[in-house]
Amino acid sequence: METHLIDIQLNPRKFVAPEYVFGVDVRLMAGVFCKKLGGRKILLVTDQGIVNTSWLKEIENELQKLSLEYVVFSAISPNPRDYEVMQGKLIYEQNKCNMILALGGGSVMDCAKGIGIVSTNQGYICDYEGVDMIDRPMPPLICIPTTGGTAADVSQFAIINNTSERYKFAIISKAVVPDVALIDPLVLTSMDAFLTACTGMDALSHAFEAFVSNANSAFTDLYALESIQLISRNLRESINNPNDIQARGKVMLASLYAGLAFSNASLGCVHSLAHSLGGYLDLPHGECNAILLPHVVDFNFDSAPERYLKIAEIIGMSPPGKNLQEAKKMFTQYLLDFKQSVGIHTTLKDKGVTTDVTPQLATKAIKDPCNATNPKPPVKEDLEVIYKEAL
Ligand SMILES: [Fe+2]
Repeated sequence: METHLIDIQLNPRKFVAPEYVFGVDVRLMAGVFCKKLGGRKILLVTDQGIVNTSWLKEIENELQKLSLEYVVFSAISPNPRDYEVMQGKLIYEQNKCNMILALGGGSVMDCAKGIGIVSTNQGYICDYEGVDMIDRPMPPLICIPTTGGTAADVSQFAIINNTSERYKFAIISKAVVPDVALIDPLVLTSMDAFLTACTGMDALSHAFEAFVSNANSAFTDLYALESIQLISRNLRESINNPNDIQARGKVMLASLYAGLAFSNASLGCVHSLAHSLGGYLDLPHGECNAILLPHVVDFNFDSAPERYLKIAEIIGMSPPGKNLQEAKKMFTQYLLDFKQSVGIHTTLKDKGVTTDVTPQLATKAIKDPCNATNPKPPVKEDLEVIYKEAL
């Protein structure tokens, strides 16, 4: 029985999603979909971590079976860098490719999107920072995610590291939604416990931010709440039993749902703060989010209490009563405990952040477009305070 009623959004809202296929072994459909999309020469984008697994070999076999030509590009770092996008574009052009297949986590898929953007729009990737800055469609793009969190395979977002300015910037456009996502929970079984925790907390942050976003809709609410429920019940299980395909499947599904939610409702301060941090100190995105989420909820709670109480109900917290300040305290404590329970014990101080750099981090974070949909509009000083609280 629904105890916390929330209003639905009745202002005009749209919903964009790619064609996606979900299930065990769907990664092996890569060749068939490349053929369907007119692939002649494929840029197969991946990273060094994947090159050493059987996943890449299998995909190559599928392409070879259908006589599809391809070239592998794997020189991609975590927090993909602007110059890596440009290097990928050069390889795409030199090999006369006509489509892109990405096999990897968020960094790989974001870099693949970046390569697609500059291969048809020209210029430098940093020219496309912001919302709706892309004029021409990318070449066909198929994504096979190998982590359960980023959901770049279904989203309108690409996040690239501007290395000269040392911050990560967002490219937000319908033009970066892939054509097809092949979402296979089996590949998650090769993730270690820490990567599972970080990527799972990224997905949880996506769902939280989409649900309280001021661009929320009835469609995104549905996905966000289901995602929160799936992660709160299955992330620990998938860490403790890495080969439990049911738990892995539920986390992968949660990542997909959170992706559909945030792609269409956008994000908030967890992500604006994490983008600035991740670019400046080259830190894992999911770990930054896990550290920041409780502090951003503390900042936001009073601006969307009924929505946070709905989340509390979904995750099965004991009813917090009528005192909103007590409820906020219980809720942020739940998130701090949940982060610990999945094995993330760090604070920003442990990651090398000091009060010397927080003003600089806040200056960059306040320019991030994710702030625009945060339920409480922040000023730079607010962001600096949140960084300090997360130290
Ligand atoms: Fe994220």
